[in-house]
Amino acid sequence: MNTEQAIQRWNRYAERYTANYDEQGDIHRVVLLNPTIFSLLGEVDGNHLLDAGCGEGYLSRLLVKKGARVTAVDFSQKMLDIAMERTPQQEAIQFLHGNCENLSFLADEQFDGIVSNMVLQDLEDYQAALCEMFRLLKPNSTFIFSILHPCFVTPNSGWMRHEQLDQQYWKVQHYFYEGEYHQLDADPPIVLYHRTLTSYVQAIRQAGFTIETIVEPKPSQDMLRKYPQFAEDLHCADFIVFKLKK
Ligand SMILES: C[S@@+](CC[C@H](N)C(=O)[O-])C[C@H]1O[C@@H](n2cnc3c(N)ncnc32)[C@H](O)[C@@H]1O
Repeated sequence: MNTEQAIQRWNRYAERYTANYDEQGDIHRVVLLNPTIFSLLGEVDGNHLLDAGCGEGYLSRLLVKKGARVTAVDFSQKMLDIAMERTPQQEAIQFLHGNCENLSFLADEQFDGIVSNMVLQDLEDYQAALCEMFRLLKPNSTFIFSILHPCFVTPNSGWMRHEQLDQQYWKVQHYFYEGEYHQLDADPPIVLYHRTLTSYVQAIRQAGFTIETIVEPKPSQDMLRKYPQFAEDLHCADFIVFKLKK
């Protein structure tokens, strides 16, 4: 799939993808991703941040509430239109149309931090995107990104029932496959790219980053009380979040 096709797909999918979002994003963001990202980010008051692949912009808006100035980039114009509709105080966020694999219209070393929430598994040239994030960050600054956990979310992975043991198991297949695959339960099917954890780590190091930490988010007891369906996330991680240092 080329970039133009990827953009068209996200444009077509944008309304449906964002229909279940509130000001905190969707339920996976509320339970797993937001607590992790905000604890890794720490204090952002006064910082100029890039939200790379901002989608409908909920994270940018939360960052602005914490005192940051935000530039938000997405390659789907439809996503940006939704983001702008949902952002009453647009002056606090600069929404820009751009491809995270090549943001040459943005100057070097201008951001105090970059976040990219669930985007790197959606784009083809993740090495180029990592190099762009490195270029755009001020020295000693951090890049935080989340992706589907590549060890568990693989082509054809999913829950399956073991009838004799009467238990659910998470099935992993094709872990070493690298490339495009389709999640067929969405309409249109979501196109994702699988890479091994090794490939991600190699690309991170080749871009020039060091890994400060990784987090595999799991639901807190508090969240489990509110959202008991997330008990299944105690068996294996849906996501992995990297905090990288330039
Ligand atoms: C899974 S959504 C996540 C959106 C948002 N970060 C969030 O957490 O709600 C992925 C987003 O990345 C955007 N995207 C995918 N590839 C991109 C690329 N190469 N450059 C810029 N945006 C991209 C899509 O248009 C979509 O809005």
